[in-house]
Parts: sequence; structure tokens; C-alpha cells
Amino acid sequence: MRDDKRLIEDYLPIVAISTEASREKSVRKGHISTLHLWWARRPLVACRAAVHGALVPASRFVPEGASEDEKAKGRNSAAAFVARLCKYPGDPKVIAEAQKHILEAHAARLTQETGKPVTIADIEAGRAPRPKVLDMFAGGGSIPLEALRLGCEAYALDLNPVAHIIQLCTLVYPQKYGKPDPTARGMTGPKNHQGETTWGGLAKEVRYWGEWVLKKVRAEIGDLYPLIPDPAYHVDRKDQKNALAAEDEPPPGYLVPVAYLWTRTVVCKNPTCKATVPLVKQTWLCKKPDKYVALRMVAKKSSKSVTFDVIEAKSEKGLGFDPSEFSKGGNATCPFCGTVADIEYVKSEGWQGRMGNQLMALVGTRHGEVGKKYIAGKHLDIHYPPATRIQAELLGLEREDGLTSPDEPIANLADEDPQNTLGITVRPYGIRRFRDLYTSRQQLALLKCVHFTRIAQKEMNLQDLPIELATATTAALSLVTSRFSNFSSTLCTWFHDGGRGVKHVFARQVLTMVWDYAETNPFYLKAASWPVCLDIVVEELETLSDQRMSRAHVNRGSAINLPAEEGTFDAVITDPPYYDNVPYSSISDYFYVWLKRSIGHTFAEHFSGITTPKKNEIIADVRGHHGDRAKANSKYEALMEASFREAFRVLKPQAPLVVVYAHKTTLGWATLVEGLRRSGFSVTEAWPLDTENVSRMRAKESAALASSIFLVGRKREGNATGSYETDVQPELAAIVRERVETLWDQGVSGADLVIACVGAGLRAFTRFARVEYANGDEVPAERFLAEVETVVLESILGRLSKEVGGNGGKTSLAGVDPATRFYTLWRYTYRGAELDAGEAIIFANGTHVELDGSSGLSSGAHALVEKMKGKYRLRDYKERGDDDRLGLPIEGGQATSLIDALHRTLWLMEQRPLKLAEYLREAEPNRDQMRLVAQALAGPALKGGEMADISPTGEMAALAKLTSNWRSVIENKAVPHAEKADRKRGQGKLFE
Ligand SMILES: C[S@@+](CC[C@H](N)C(=O)[O-])C[C@H]1O[C@@H](n2cnc3c(N)ncnc32)[C@H](O)[C@@H]1O
Ligand SMILES: [Zn+2]
Repeated sequence: MRDDKRLIEDYLPIVAISTEASREKSVRKGHISTLHLWWARRPLVACRAAVHGALVPASRFVPEGASEDEKAKGRNSAAAFVARLCKYPGDPKVIAEAQKHILEAHAARLTQETGKPVTIADIEAGRAPRPKVLDMFAGGGSIPLEALRLGCEAYALDLNPVAHIIQLCTLVYPQKYGKPDPTARGMTGPKNHQGETTWGGLAKEVRYWGEWVLKKVRAEIGDLYPLIPDPAYHVDRKDQKNALAAEDEPPPGYLVPVAYLWTRTVVCKNPTCKATVPLVKQTWLCKKPDKYVALRMVAKKSSKSVTFDVIEAKSEKGLGFDPSEFSKGGNATCPFCGTVADIEYVKSEGWQGRMGNQLMALVGTRHGEVGKKYIAGKHLDIHYPPATRIQAELLGLEREDGLTSPDEPIANLADEDPQNTLGITVRPYGIRRFRDLYTSRQQLALLKCVHFTRIAQKEMNLQDLPIELATATTAALSLVTSRFSNFSSTLCTWFHDGGRGVKHVFARQVLTMVWDYAETNPFYLKAASWPVCLDIVVEELETLSDQRMSRAHVNRGSAINLPAEEGTFDAVITDPPYYDNVPYSSISDYFYVWLKRSIGHTFAEHFSGITTPKKNEIIADVRGHHGDRAKANSKYEALMEASFREAFRVLKPQAPLVVVYAHKTTLGWATLVEGLRRSGFSVTEAWPLDTENVSRMRAKESAALASSIFLVGRKREGNATGSYETDVQPELAAIVRERVETLWDQGVSGADLVIACVGAGLRAFTRFARVEYANGDEVPAERFLAEVETVVLESILGRLSKEVGGNGGKTSLAGVDPATRFYTLWRYTYRGAELDAGEAIIFANGTHVELDGSSGLSSGAHALVEKMKGKYRLRDYKERGDDDRLGLPIEGGQATSLIDALHRTLWLMEQRPLKLAEYLREAEPNRDQMRLVAQALAGPALKGGEMADISPTGEMAALAKLTSNWRSVIENKAVPHAEKADRKRGQGKLFE
């Protein structure tokens, strides 16, 4: 059979892609993620690399049978090309080139498949199919979008209706209706010869109808957000009127409201007090150099409720109080009597519907000035939203349009059930239905937007817009409202640090209680508002319409029952849910209830449920298993395996599967690998890629850990059983050795190197349906992964020693004691990061040391490893070095570890240089080996690759000092060999 290795099975420039992916995460403008939130969207550049790498043969860059030199050259040029391709947003010329790579390869495959010659021209002319790529967990649509961009026929599937609507607006409508169409009626195109206005393109229509909706809504409820008389305005304001919120800039003398800042309250539980206790957590309004603004709470003795004053200062101290010192985790102290409203009390008050709200302040903007103004709530009592009016409007909507407030249950629980669930922790406070997440004014505003979107759709039909165009436009408008709801509930807080504004609900992937919230003005033109959401959606539709790509096939359904024939796809590239990382269905209900109201009637088959479908979701939710974690996990694993089996069924025989997986530890893949193997795949590669914001991860000191793994699978040929000793081990050793060398030369290092090598090693194992030891016992994936890791670490150590020279090759790190090897490899792989117990233990096994037990590395006074609450971390020379006995031979001749001597040496060099000579005489470390270890730990071999820009640790700095002054610090102080031997014999120089 022809070698059909794909580029992704040979080489990916993971460092370049990772760097670009994290940059992409920080560039929001024009990015599909701005259309609507979907949690854990993958960066486009990483998806692009996966699609290209899965479809382009490795031989395009690295010819089969090439010499080692040619191979290296080929890989370099592949790396350079892929790095250019995977730039965000992307160079059209390079993308066209990539399309050519893909179509050429595809034409060749079609030729082989059909036995008839197929050319690129045939494919481009539609005489032959484009490569079909399926993402069966498509979410926000990044993977199918990149498949389209690279000229494939993309298929997207997801179970979730919210994801489905997002996908339609990302992968279908802009491509299908993005361009002006003189044959279709619309509101924004040129007039046709019958004098009718034609279709000007999706973005334009959405803009037109969006403004139409906005105008209607504003006319009806704009007065609920009145301009605020400016307290700093001293002109006689005879003509002061309760003006409507101005269209653009407020007239002089008024502020436009940007947001209303509220605190939740409870009544003091002390029966003799009964004051109103504010639950506000912090009162910061603005925190920037030279401008510190916060609210000071004032509790007048005679009063039963507090007021707030706006205090501004040039420095934080100048405020005279700490704005972050208010309630803690829901426990608030009554400012009048000192009784604590504890969290249980707060919950029970909330549960009984007795939690209140108090306006603390208003944020506004003044005509002709930049910056925000803050006004204390006590000056604004007349601007409380008029409750009776709002109730009447809400009733009116229900009567007129059948539109109700979102009374769907949160987390699908009965009203009386106060449970927290996955990703949702608001129920214990009495927030049981989605409507409880909104003030009545917020509900009304959202419902009005929904209402007029529905009317707009009817109006479009009256104007003779073709039904499909009207549907696409309405779907996009519905996304605007859904998107806006993220900025308009009582879970939105005020963002005061590094930019001021209303923070959206899903800053994290949870619905969680907040104690003080910001209610945005839905009409304010510069921030969290409906018109701003409209602008962003329109802009994104424009971007998507401009890109010349065809549309995807978007379906809603379950990955365990794919709507496709056997052998349909040229690749399945997918990013499945990971255990209970993101509770997609539960949290997407937040948007579902709004989409259902605005577009649900048009997509009745997707919105028939009260909330999003939960039964077939693949998720490890303990709630469905009476709290049994193991059961929840195995259900998840079983469903994942079922979905892989489906992928196997719908893939063509030679076609690859790429699975994006969140788990960082190699052991964490064991079940996934087992699932893939059982469903008929062999795993050929695994590439670690950073798909999340690197700066954030670095801050957490887990710098060395990539955030996702791209595993590549192929349909396994045959069902043979392999022998571990004769089939698997030799191949494994060869693969790993080659991998370490190649990737090291490419600048891959640390955990990335370990992961990529372990991933490649899996091929040796998973090409068999079953692998047995000589005694007939089956080798489970978990055992195998641990063994591969051992082989990988050994190879890395070998390379590390070669790198640091090893005394002209005479000394090697391979010969040092296990604890020192363990320490060196851990530092190489994970730097200072803490490791979860499971991962740390595999690592320890892989280097033949023990962490626990009386002789484990984490026991004893000068332990090398610290064990803390299920985690392990290495201790460095500063933590260990201040110990007279460290690194000295132990009574009874037991050898100590070289790393101990090195740590003590570093400590003495820094703290007590005069004692160093004596110590070295006593400890007698093997100096050549110690030097080698010091060099290996000091870097640059240790750094390199993606860690190059990380500042060296304190220990690395000390090591650098030691190695560069080796002669003066060590050699000159050490004792000549002969003398040492004498002393050992107890003779010394006494008899001289
Ligand atoms: C990790 S997300 C995909 C994110 C996507 N790659 C992106 O960039 O936005 C996993 C998706 O799987 C979906 N899902 C969960 N169970 C499913 C099932 N049984 N069939 C299809 N999709 C499912 C979830 O709704 C979620 O959108
Ligand atoms: Zn009190």
C-alpha cells in the first residue's frame, strides 16, 4: 500500500501555532467569537492547521525515502509554510496555496478511489466532490469554518439548539445570503426595473431591520432610562424636563445613563434592628493611575438604611477606606448593629423572596466630555423604574403577542429544589427561573426587542422578502438580543479595573451569584447595549460574507447517531466535550430562552423543548448519577466511545480522525485512547497546542502545560494481537528516539516535547487491537502510557546530556542517581509548576523513584518534593539548602543524592561562601556529574522553545552563576584525589 502519511502525522510547528493561537485569543475584532458567545471556542489558526495537516500528505514536504538531511529540510519548509498559513486572520495568497495542496491531494485520492483520473479542475468545476470534512461536536463552528476556508465541503453537527443557530449564522447564512441579489426583494439593495428595492446582502439587511427594531423599542421604553440632570451643571434649568434618552449626545445639563449600580439587600436578622443590610461585595467604580473612585457607605444612626457617597482621590490611600472590604462570600455585617447576615440567612431570605435591591450609584456620560461620571444613588430616587408601568407593559406583551417572561426553570429543577448544579450556583438564593435573573426593567427591554424582532419578520414577509432571507435576517437579529442578554441581567458586575463598563455574565463558564450588579442602559451607544451588539453582529456578518467560501451543511443531532452514510467523509476533525469541563446544555439555557422567544416559531423542531436537550448530551454530570462520580465518568466514556464508533463508520477507509482533547496529562488520555482503540482506530500522533490565552496560563505557573492535545487516529487495519516484547517495544523505542531528536531540533521542549513523543509512541501500541505480554496478559492503555513515558524521559535525558556536553562525552546524565534524574527531568518538563498527584506519580514511576512512603522523596526534613493537598511540587535550593547535613554521606555508607549536594553547594555559594570548601571536602560529590547536572538545570537547554521568554527562576540564576564560575567556586576548593583517598582511609595528613 502507498504511504499515505499526512502532514499532521509527521510534523506540526506547534510552537508557532500555539503562539499565534494565543494572540488570536486576544484580538477580538472581526472574530467569529464576537457574533455570539460559545464556550471554549477553539482558535481558528489551530483548527486551520488541523484541517490542512489532516488532508495534505506529508510527502508533499518530506519526500518518501528521503535522506535524513532532506527530511529535515522538508520539515523546515513544512513548518515555515504552516506557520505562514496559521496567521490570524490569514493571508489570502497563502490560503489559496493551502487550498491547492488539499485539492491536489484530494484529486489524487479520488483518482485512486474511482479508478478514473480526477483533476483539480474537475473538483473546482463541481464535476468531482470536494473533500468532505465533518465536525460532529461543532459548537461555535471554528473547525467547519476553517474547513470551508480551505476549500472543503464542511459538515457541522451539534446537539445544542443555541449552537445550531450560531452555526447557521456563521457557516450558512453569510455564505448563502451575504452578497447582494438583484433577483430577490430586500430593503437595502438597488432598485430593480420594476422599481422594487432588492436584497443588499445579509449584513445590510440585518443593519436595516436592526435599526427598525431599535427605533420601535426605543420609542416604547426609551423613557425608562431618562437623562439625568447633571448635579455639576449650574445654569438655571428652567426648561428641565424628564427628557427621553438622547439619540447621541445628551444636551448640556444632562448626563446619559450608562449603567445603574445596585446592591442586593436583606433585612437585618437582629429583631431589634431590622435595618436594610446591603450585601455589596466591593464598591470600586474606577481604578486607574491618578483616578480612584469608589462608593463610601454611610450609616446614619437615626436611619434604617445606608446611603452611598461617591469619593474620588488621586491615590488608593487617599480614599480613606477600602472599597473591597464589604461582604465576603455573601456574609455581610449590619452597619447599624453589627449583626452578621450569614450566608445561610441570606440564602433563606432569598429563597423566601425577601432579598431586595438598593440603587447605589449611577454611571453616566456628559456632553462633550470623555470619561464616566458617577452620581450617588441617593440623588436619584425619582429615577427608580416605575414598577406599575413596567408590569402593565409586560402584561400587554403577553396579551398582544403571547410573549411571557422567561419562566423556564433554571437547571431544569422543580421550583422547590434549591440544589446547586453543574455550572449553576444561584438556585439556593431563590433564583429558580430564568426571569429571576433580571430586573423587571431588564425583562421588559429584552422582551420588547424580541417582540419587535417578531414583528420585523412579519413585516419582511409583507415587504415580499423571500422567506429564507427573512429567516436568516431574523435569526441574526435574534442573536443580537441573545448576545445582549449576556450584558443585561443581575449577574453582570461593574468592571472598574483596566477599563470601565458592564461585565458580561459568562466571564466564566458558570451562572454564579453576585452581590452587587450593574444594570446597563440598553440604548447607550458606546458600550454594553443592544445597538452595540447589533453593530458587532453586522460587522461579523460582513466579514464572513466577504470571504469567498461555500456554505456548510449544518445539522442538529447527536454524534452517537450521525446522519450520514458509511464511508462518506475524507476527515472527521472534532473537539468533543471533556467530562464536565463545560456544562454546555445547562448554561446555554440562558440564551435558549431568548432565542426560543424570538426565532423558536421558525425553528420549531429545534425549540420544542422547555430548555435545551439534556438527555443525549455527552457530559460527565454526577447529578444524573445520584452523585456517583465514577458512574458519571463511565457514562461519559461510553458515549464518547459510541461517538468514535460513529466516526469510524462514516469515515472513508484511509481517512484520518483528529480529536481535540483538553486533558493535559498523558495518563488522562488513557480512557480516550482505549475508547479510540476499541472503536477501531489506531492513534498515530498527538500534538500539544496552546489554545487558550498563554499569558493567563503563565500567570498560573503552569506555563509548561499545553491546553489541548490534537490526537490523530486512523482506521486500524486488521484485528491482530501484538506482542509487547517483540512487536511493540522495539518500534516504540525507534519512534521515540527519532521524535525526541527531530522535535528537539525544532525547538520543542518541556512538557510539549514529552506529550508529542508519548503521542507518537502510541502508534506502536494502538496499531494492534490488543497487546499482550509474553505471559498472555493484556497490556492496558494506562500501563502502556506509563511505559512510553519512561522511554520518552530516558531519551530526553540522553539528549539533555548530549546538549550540555558531558565532559567530552565521558559523563552522562543517564548515570546519575534516580532522585537527581527525577529532579532534572521534572524541572525540564514542568519547571516550577505543581502537578496533580496522579500525574506526579506517573512521572515518578517513569523515572524510577517513589514520592510517598518513608523513603519517598516527599518524606523527611529535607524532602526534595513537597506534597500538598493532592498536589506535588519540587523544592528548590533556597528551601532545602539551609541544612548542615544535606548531601553529606549518611552513617552506614548510604549514598546521598547528587541533587542534595548541588542544592547545598548553591546555598553555601550564596549564603556562606567561606564554608563551601569544607563542605565539598566532606561531601565529595562527583564533580563532573554535578557540573553536568548544574548545566542541564541552568539551561539554556532547559529553556528554549516556548519557554524562552520566561524569566529564569532564582535557582536558574544561581545555577548560571555557579556554572560560569565553576573553576573558582568548585575546582579550586575541592581536594586533590590522592589526598581524598588518604583521608578516606582515616589517615589524613596527621602523620606528615
Ligand atoms: C468543546 S465543544 C465544541 C467547541 C467548538 N470546537 C468551538 O470551537 O466552538 C463540544 C460541543 O459538543 C456538543 N455536544 C455535547 N453532546 C453532544 C452530542 N451527543 N452530539 C453532538 N454534540 C454534542 C456541545 O453542545 C458542545 O457544543
Ligand atoms: Zn442590624
